[in-house]
This record gives sequence, C-alpha cells and structure tokens, in this order.
Amino acid sequence: MTAIAFYSITGQTQRFIDKTELPAYEITDANPYYEMSEPYVLVVPTYDDEMLEPVIDFLGYASNHQQLIGVAGGGNRNFNELYIHNAKDIAQGLGVPVVFDFEFNGTPTDVKNFKKVVQQLGLKTAKH
Ligand SMILES: Cc1cc2nc3c(=O)[nH]c(=O)nc-3n(C[C@H](O)[C@H](O)[C@H](O)COP(=O)(O)O)c2cc1C
Repeated sequence: MTAIAFYSITGQTQRFIDKTELPAYEITDANPYYEMSEPYVLVVPTYDDEMLEPVIDFLGYASNHQQLIGVAGGGNRNFNELYIHNAKDIAQGLGVPVVFDFEFNGTPTDVKNFKKVVQQLGLKTAKH
C-alpha cells in the first residue's frame, strides 16, 4: 500500500485523511524534515505559495522528492483557475501526476475514490 504524507493548515485535509483511515504522515511546521522510506502520495491544501513552505522543505529533504509518485490537491472550486494550484505546481515541478483533487474535507465519494487511487498506485509501485 502506498504511503501518504499530508499537510493541513485549518484541518480540512486532516479530516479528509482521517476519513480514509489510511496510515499517513503529517508534515508539520515544527519539523518538516522527515524522510519517507517508501513511495508515497502527497496530499496538500491550496493557499498562497509561501503558506506551503513546510511542504517544500519536506520535499527537499533526503530522498523525499524521489519517492514521490503523485500529488493530491484539496481546495475550493470557487477559486476557479487557481483551484488546487499548489498541487499542480508541485506535481509539474517534480514530474509526477496530480492523482486526485477534492474540496475541503472531501465527500464520502471522494474518500472512496481516493482510496481506490492510492490502492492502484500501490499495486503499480509493487510491480517495479
Ligand atoms: C486564504 C485562503 C486562500 C485559499 N486559496 C485557495 C486557492 O487559491 N485555490 C483553492 O483551490 N483553494 C484555496 N483555498 C481553499 C483551501 O485550500 C481549502 O479550504 C482547503 O480545504 C483547506 O485545507 P486545510 O484546512 O487542510 O488547510 C484557500 C483558503 C484560504 C483560507
């Protein structure tokens, strides 16, 4: 099963992750320097770029950028073309796909579909 790392500022992404009941590492402002020891999916909310600095520090640490296999973005569609822009930028910058998006803490359908995506990615990485 693919590992997950996530970041949350007001708790919506945290609630989404909690609802999936999947094991996940929370990137914190206090210590973003944690090495993921296996391929993982990054789940990030969307804000002005500087708000996501702990995530950038995390990605720059040890092998974290190499282990990343996909990014999921949490956001709010009212932001129109800025919807999940951080997830898109990180994915593009590191050459991995945006594998999922959801608003706020996700609907029950989002939770179900995200779990499917993670499972499929896990199966793919297991074949390598
Ligand atoms: C100041 C502010 C700026 C935001 N900017 C964006 C944005 O540009 N695009 C987007 O899709 N969502 C944006 N959002 C919505 C949040 O990404 C969304 O509510 C998310 O679920 C918050 O996750 P968190 O509670 O885990 O921090 C913004 C929210 C706030 C409060």
